[in-house]
Amino acid sequence: MSCVDAKTIVEGTDFEKKHTPLIECKDVVKAGELFEVKIHSAGVDHPMDDNHFIQFIEVKMGDITLVRVDLTQYVKPDVVLYLKAPSEEHKGYEMKLSAYMYCNLHGIWKYEKEIKIE
Ligand SMILES: [Fe+2]
Repeated sequence: MSCVDAKTIVEGTDFEKKHTPLIECKDVVKAGELFEVKIHSAGVDHPMDDNHFIQFIEVKMGDITLVRVDLTQYVKPDVVLYLKAPSEEHKGYEMKLSAYMYCNLHGIWKYEKEIKIE
């Protein structure tokens, strides 16, 4: 598994960028707030062909799987979610979102983002 960081998004190769499940959302959310999260490849579209495509995208908060989307070659590998931020007692903490993207030829790729809860 390749875990890609923010530097890769800017300086990485096209191969790295098309396999990286970039997480796009606010850096700070209010406790209990519903907020939008977009997951998509980092600036370079991954092919979605019969023999080479993204098979699934999964999103976790810490160890908890929030959603897993199974895909076929007929679907653009972009996901939009509306997540509910943790409740008041988590104020001041950060939650870690992890996105996983699985390519049938090039394996699983991971990207993480910390989000502050206020
Ligand atoms: Fe691939």
